[in-house]
Amino acid sequence: MPNSNKTYISELKNNVGGEVTLSGWLYQARSSGKIQFLIVRDGTGLCQCVVEKGKIANELFEQLKHLGQESSLTITGTVRAEERSVGGYELAVTGAEIISPAVDYPITPKSHGIDFLLKNRHLHLRSQRQWCIGKIRHTVIDAIRRFFNDNGFTLIDTPIFTAAAGEEEQTLFEADYFGTPMYLTQTGQLHLEAAAMSFGKVYCFGPTFRAEKSKTRRHLTEFWMVEPEVAFIDLAGLLELAENFVSFIVTHVLQNNKGELETLGADIDTLEKTKPPFYRLTYTEAVDILTGRKTQDFLAEQLKELQSQKQQTESKIAELEKQQAGQLKQWQRDKIAAELIELRADLAETNTKIENNPKHAKLAAEFQWGKDLGGSDETIISQMHDKPVFVTHYPKKAKAFYMKTDRDNDKVVLNFDLLAPAGFGEIIGGSAREDDYDLLVKRIAEYGLDVENYLWYLDLRKYGSVPHGGFGLGVERTIAWLTGEKHIRQCIAFPRMMDKVYI
Ligand code: 4AD
Ligand code: MG
Repeated sequence: MPNSNKTYISELKNNVGGEVTLSGWLYQARSSGKIQFLIVRDGTGLCQCVVEKGKIANELFEQLKHLGQESSLTITGTVRAEERSVGGYELAVTGAEIISPAVDYPITPKSHGIDFLLKNRHLHLRSQRQWCIGKIRHTVIDAIRRFFNDNGFTLIDTPIFTAAAGEEEQTLFEADYFGTPMYLTQTGQLHLEAAAMSFGKVYCFGPTFRAEKSKTRRHLTEFWMVEPEVAFIDLAGLLELAENFVSFIVTHVLQNNKGELETLGADIDTLEKTKPPFYRLTYTEAVDILTGRKTQDFLAEQLKELQSQKQQTESKIAELEKQQAGQLKQWQRDKIAAELIELRADLAETNTKIENNPKHAKLAAEFQWGKDLGGSDETIISQMHDKPVFVTHYPKKAKAFYMKTDRDNDKVVLNFDLLAPAGFGEIIGGSAREDDYDLLVKRIAEYGLDVENYLWYLDLRKYGSVPHGGFGLGVERTIAWLTGEKHIRQCIAFPRMMDKVYI
């Protein structure tokens, strides 16, 4: 082994012309007799390592040729810039050492179904897609902390065991707490309100639990939520805080993860447009849009597009199936098989959308003022916008007990949801909080909640009550929007879902 500098793939740009050693895993390999192209990953990126016969010992050349995917190794070589190579640099290999050979790694470059990949999440985390999402998640979380820390907020760690519902009672996970029922937290908000009366501007950030009986692409039973809470703020102030916050996250991700976004095929142009002010609609305006002509036209147009998409995908599939029947090398066969799996998944998705389109159109047309916006309603509103949209002033009946009643219209509350554009839907929910003692007591009773559980919360309205409010941003939903991932289960390393927890 030549005595070289150990480095990381992310540092190759500083070592052009020099000889370096990388430690990593074999991601992919291609060989054509006298030359092998090994794609190695080391946690910081991918690098093509070119092994030429005659440049290293014959025995090693043969060993590398038969090395299985995900074998661990160190590899030494001279760095050269190569635009066409993944990452822009490659290694002209001068030596290598196999650390631990892997045989029959179960996840091959051929595509696998999602169920298989979730069962193998402990390994699938090594895939380029999961790696890119993980890197972006890291940046999102860093941006969240930075934004609040740099804007005078104090971090408060709120409890995970709670005695009462913060959101809806039906979605509590019960735990046996030494013989007494306790619940896993749905929100840190109530405790955070207490802290806001001490520190003024606070936030909490942690895992949140919802026993929601929803198997949709937007629901996890365990997800991460960041919640700011501010004393002396009104609804307009909250919207401004939320749009600055979300824009900050987007900017931070664009600055740090352009490469990952590109690899994932994210809509970078639209993300670049994510700057304040965002769109603002009242719930009543949103209902007018949903039940109006424009929405029906929009959905009809969408149906046409989906049908032509379906035709295109079907003819691509037919074409590949024809190719499959011919004479092919194994790698060509694998490539076609992988493409077919993806195209068939696309087709299934397009078919579902085609099936749902008229149902969603009917739901929208018949939407009655007073209901909460459903998933499909949010999707429609969000698809009709190219920047995030605030929807404010929901009917009181559709929302949580703690939301402040609008003093000018007691049928609605001073709340908002923030819908991400392009159909991604709600990423933030928030509100001004009811700060009047008597009104809050009434609301608690109306919701059939036990006032005994909320006496401490009512104290906050007894001793120096102030207008205040806050919101919660779901981390996985935000990442799904930024990365263009269809399902939020891909946006957390080990997802927990209603129907299944894999590993
Ligand atoms: O709208 P939600 O339920 O609001 C609250 O919990 C408030 N107490 C927050 C506050 O005002 N401090 O949830 C906030 C966000 C949603 O907009 C969504 O992004 C995310 O949390 N969320 C979920 N994410 C994944 N899976 C679920 N089951 C989620 N439920 C909510
Ligand atoms: Mg909500």
